[in-house]
Amino acid sequence: MRIVLGVGGGIAAYKVASLLRLFTEAGHDVTVIPTEAASRFVGVATWEALSGNPVTNSVFDDVDQVKHVRLGHEADLIVVAPATADLLARAATGQANDLLTNTLLMASGPVLFAPAMHTEMWQHAATQANVETLRSRGVTVLEPASGRLTGSDSGPGRLPEPEAIFEAAMALAHGLQAVAPLSPSVNVTAGGTSTGPLFPLAGRTVTISAGGTREPLDPVRFLGNRSSGKQGVALAAAARDAGATVRLVAAHMEVPAPAGVELIAVETALQLREVMLAAAAESDVVIMAAAVADFRPAEVSGSKIKKRDDTADPVITLIRNPDILHELVAVRDAAGSSQLVVGFAAETGDEQGDVLSYAEAKLKRKGCDLLVVNHVGADKVFGQDNNSVVILSRAGSEPQSAAGSKQDVAAIVIDRIGSELSRVFPRT
Ligand code: C5P
Repeated sequence: MRIVLGVGGGIAAYKVASLLRLFTEAGHDVTVIPTEAASRFVGVATWEALSGNPVTNSVFDDVDQVKHVRLGHEADLIVVAPATADLLARAATGQANDLLTNTLLMASGPVLFAPAMHTEMWQHAATQANVETLRSRGVTVLEPASGRLTGSDSGPGRLPEPEAIFEAAMALAHGLQAVAPLSPSVNVTAGGTSTGPLFPLAGRTVTISAGGTREPLDPVRFLGNRSSGKQGVALAAAARDAGATVRLVAAHMEVPAPAGVELIAVETALQLREVMLAAAAESDVVIMAAAVADFRPAEVSGSKIKKRDDTADPVITLIRNPDILHELVAVRDAAGSSQLVVGFAAETGDEQGDVLSYAEAKLKRKGCDLLVVNHVGADKVFGQDNNSVVILSRAGSEPQSAAGSKQDVAAIVIDRIGSELSRVFPRT
């Protein structure tokens, strides 16, 4: 994503260096535009070194390229932090007296302001009117966090923590603004957490397994499965957009991991088990979306198994893999933790029972809190872009259906996880 990061002239400008890092580490191409006052707090060299892009605040540099037109038009997202009272006023009144305000007037994508100033300046009628004006035009203006300000004073006016601004920016870029506009009641606090429906998983850590394990037979062959990892990746993106810190434990996947999540690559079920057990110990939510091989070859040959005419057909002996989901639930229960564990089940019906009756039995057997069930066949679910699931809950509430793209299904599952967490394990 191409991001323009406008930096206002406030002491909190130094914190924006961390925000810039979060953007670049998530793979985004960031152009920083500091105001002249911002350059008194943090030098241009810092922004250039951290962004890897040239930095200027002048409309008269590279005049032939009409920089403000290009930057504003091409940006997928513009984030302004810290948004000072002066910058909010200039943006609200449509002034164009430097490169940043010119760029804001040319913006064609979403714009987010993260204000920071003294409490009196924030609460002043003029500032509040400017914020109102900007919001009425569809611009997202975060509430400042409360806490210690530059001097000895404290109150609302602190720049939200870089992680909180990052989360809000990602949610905005992914279109969540259209569903639930950020309002003054959505308070992104200094702790990187937020309340309100836009970030139901803010402050939570979510570990998700995805993809299909590969069980080696020899150095070149393995037993695998058809999982593409698309549903797990969609869940990771949805959890990230819901404000969670996300760790994606990825077995073989045909799609890239989303930006802004920690990726841990594994190959076999045993590796996945080890990583999941360690990661689960630090997680509020664990989702087992990976297709884990139930069996692995009893022996793994150290050299390629040869094809010889004079030997009998080879036989592969399989042994059981541990049931990771079951183990995660057992560890959680033994610790008496309030962690939410979610399993997936790919089911087919047969003469003895339908998909749902098999799934209900599996939910009991595994002991997880939610089981997301899909009906599979050779052409259904695996590798496809759409999915249709039923969410079963251990608490016994009515099965919930969800269908659509794997992103749509992921959003519904994450939403359900958010409401389960707030119902069963409210924040203290
Ligand atoms: O038993 P079944 O494979 O149908 O259960 C599917 C669920 O159990 C999925 O959440 C999957 O990730 C998990 N699983 C596991 N360990 C296994 C097999 C499946 O955690 N060995």
